[in-house]
Amino acid sequence: MTNVAIIYYSSTGTVDAMARRAAQTAEKAGAEVRLRHVAELAPSEAVNENDDWSAHREDVSDEPQAELDDLTWADVVLFGSPTRYGSIASQLQAFLDTTASLWQEGALADKVYAGFTAGQTEHGGQETTLVSLYTTIYHWGGIVVAPGYTDDVKFADGNPYGASKVTGETTDLEQADLDAIDHLVERVVRISGKLTS
Ligand SMILES: Cc1cc2nc3c(=O)[nH]c(=O)nc-3n(C[C@H](O)[C@H](O)[C@H](O)COP(=O)(O)O)c2cc1C
Repeated sequence: MTNVAIIYYSSTGTVDAMARRAAQTAEKAGAEVRLRHVAELAPSEAVNENDDWSAHREDVSDEPQAELDDLTWADVVLFGSPTRYGSIASQLQAFLDTTASLWQEGALADKVYAGFTAGQTEHGGQETTLVSLYTTIYHWGGIVVAPGYTDDVKFADGNPYGASKVTGETTDLEQADLDAIDHLVERVVRISGKLTS
């Protein structure tokens, strides 16, 4: 069985919805799944200024937070983050910045990784967010399994670097978003299975 860790940060719930879909799809693909959000680090004054932000943080407050053990346990790690000025959110970056001892042991190498993100606008930096995330994974010796255009669904979401949602008018996941997540997850599970067989 493939172990899939889905490690993500979400302020207002969009990336959270993507992470939950990814978890469902990975389970359907026969994987063991850990769905883990990373700690909120923004000051409570900032969170409480935004109703959607505070409501979402409350929603996940009882759910398990990501730990380093989730990375060592996993065969596949999917990272999710909102796009923040074309990069990942500082909350996810802070989690990545706690991995030095695992990196030193080589414990993060040879696993399959991919990412997903959401941003408000098309061309608003979703691709650079994923590419910047992957820079860390290259340092680990991880195997980035990007979706490319390996399925027709990729011509709908148009992001060969991972799965991404343009929120625009609605943060609800649309069919193209669901298809892109499903394709990414099924692909990483399949490729990981080939690597470990
Ligand atoms: C500080 C900040 C920076 C952002 N930068 C971008 C950006 O560069 N491009 C973009 O399209 N959206 C940007 N956004 C919008 C978020 O990426 C978008 O609302 C995302 O869907 C939020 O995901 P969440 O609901 O999971 O928190 C930014 C939002 C914030 C608060």
